Amino acid sequence: MTIESRRLAGMLLILLPTVMYGGVTLLSMLINDPSYLANPLRQNLWRAGHAHAGVLLVLSLVALRYVDETPLSGFWKWIARSFIPIAAILMPLGFFLSVASPDAKAPNGFIYSTYLGAIVLAIGVLTLGVGLLMRTPDIK
Ligand code: HEM
Repeated sequence: MTIESRRLAGMLLILLPTVMYGGVTLLSMLINDPSYLANPLRQNLWRAGHAHAGVLLVLSLVALRYVDETPLSGFWKWIARSFIPIAAILMPLGFFLSVASPDAKAPNGFIYSTYLGAIVLAIGVLTLGVGLLMRTPDIK
């Protein structure tokens, strides 16, 4: 593994407890906060925010295992390495902030951050996938 991938893996693992903290917060709101249960839209989007943050952080770690195996140039390796973690920030940001108010009836403009994150995620995984397919078989 290259130093760039190892450093990013270390940072992602250090960030993972923030997702766990989010999970603990959701759990305590489900148990103790009737106003949280009274707004199903907010509850669904906040659950999605927590879920996407966690799953995309884990996917970012998995991707790092593969990036250094590709013959991609430095620029495209940077895209393959960083776009999944960037999506792991943009998508939850939209889910959480678009219904920040307890009585939100519809998502506000922050929801576009989720769509932007989805585009960034697609670019990241497609780059990594194409990069892996570009690699010629190893001769043993
Ligand atoms: C890396 C750590 C974690 C990951 C990857 C993760 C992932 C997820 C995912 C994918 C869901 C969505 C499940 C669904 O909607 O069917 C979820 C929901 C949930 N998680 Fe986590 N989670 C993590 C840590 C935690 C922790 C530490 C707690 C609390 C102690 C927690 C509490 C919850 C709760 C309460 C829900 C349900 C929320 C709701 O239904 O409104 N999570 N988590």
